[in-house]
Amino acid sequence: MLDKWTPQTWRDLPIKQVPGYANETALNNVEETLRRFPPLVFAGEARRLRERLADVAAGKAFLLQGGDCAESFAEFHPNNIRDTFKVLLQMAVVLTFGAACPVVKVGRLAGQFAKPRSSDSETQNGVTLPSYRGDIINGLEFDETGREPDPQRMVQAYSQSAATLNLLRAFAQGGYADLHRVHAWNQDFVADSPQGERYRELADRLTETLDFMAACGLNSDTTPQIRETEFYTSHEALFLAYEEALTRIDSTTGEWYDCSAHMVWIGDRTRQLDGAHVEFMRGIKNPIGMKCGPSLEPDDMLRLIERLNPKNEPGRLTLITRMGSDQVEKKLPPLIRAVRREGANVVWCIDPMHGNTISSSTGYKTRVFGRILDEVHSAFAVHLAEGSYAGGVHFELTGQNVTECIGGAQGVSEASLSENYLTHCDPRLNASQALELAFEIAEALKRERQGSGLGNPSRLAIAS
Ligand code: PEP
Ligand code: CO
Repeated sequence: MLDKWTPQTWRDLPIKQVPGYANETALNNVEETLRRFPPLVFAGEARRLRERLADVAAGKAFLLQGGDCAESFAEFHPNNIRDTFKVLLQMAVVLTFGAACPVVKVGRLAGQFAKPRSSDSETQNGVTLPSYRGDIINGLEFDETGREPDPQRMVQAYSQSAATLNLLRAFAQGGYADLHRVHAWNQDFVADSPQGERYRELADRLTETLDFMAACGLNSDTTPQIRETEFYTSHEALFLAYEEALTRIDSTTGEWYDCSAHMVWIGDRTRQLDGAHVEFMRGIKNPIGMKCGPSLEPDDMLRLIERLNPKNEPGRLTLITRMGSDQVEKKLPPLIRAVRREGANVVWCIDPMHGNTISSSTGYKTRVFGRILDEVHSAFAVHLAEGSYAGGVHFELTGQNVTECIGGAQGVSEASLSENYLTHCDPRLNASQALELAFEIAEALKRERQGSGLGNPSRLAIAS
């Protein structure tokens, strides 16, 4: 029998990836301040996302999750938020229209600040300093002051998250996401690429469909699904002091919700069954995710599922697999079989980014587009062969024209990585690469849904 849960019970358990604060009192004071700040999301919204994810678990919808690896204070700008939102809308339209499947849109945005690191320290030219752990903890600049964890950064991360979420809500509901604007989401630097061209053709078809629907009396005024969209936020719940401070009781149900985002997930490095992160996550009622890397054994996974979703509620738990393109065929099938054997209700989501990170010969952390695509295709094929549903994808991407991942139709080369390499952590797909992937996934999804009978026309819906 597990002990009673409170938002603080994680504090008594072993924990990984914690920053060393010089001044604990200053940290506690900031936590106290955050406890008095308003929640960023409402419990009711998180519940609605859980319902949407239950539809995904049942094969009736598809999850698109994406955004920055690490949001940063330096890159905080309305244009960046807008452009990431735009790419996600474009991808969602390609998937919705291409695969005739409702898409649940979840950003890695408005709170994705804390980063797990493989080493606690970093050495440059003989100088050793604490590793960068994300802007909510310390700074990227390699000097003593920059790398010192500063609790005030939590307040700045909260305020940036609040402002970002505010803009996202305005975009999602204020007309920006109206399907009639589908052409306007195509960005200049993408428009001239093969993807941009392909997107334009799809947007033309969609516009024609909208004209037809308007003639039948369904337009932006009569049909909110055309005028606005649901958009949710998510991040890794790594920095538990921050997550705890934003965890509140929902007055309508009396249950605890982590109100820093609609969905939060446990990273691959912090999913120890008896560790602090799993303890924290088991008690909040949000929909949650768990990253599943190649080191996860089926039995351990089943124990984690039991701990995190003891009532087996559909939509509660999303398993985000990130095996690496060369491991997915070996590592994924045993997990799928174990889940099926136990009758566990989960959403399967493919993260083709984190198992495919390499170092370029010029020293950049990068990912090869072809490998990312390979992992997506292999994971879809494994799910199809195992009779389960690949219900979603999880990407690190940005709307900016960055050169962080190699390849794609626009052909970012190893030599051109330095041209616009901006990420604070992992390499992200640029808008053109993200769109290219969306077209590939739409095809794979269509095949999957037809192959498994999920493409039954009675289930088709245009969801914005
Ligand atoms: C991430 O999603 O940025 C991350 C660190 O992933 P993982 O926990 O899968 O390594
Ligand atoms: Co990352």
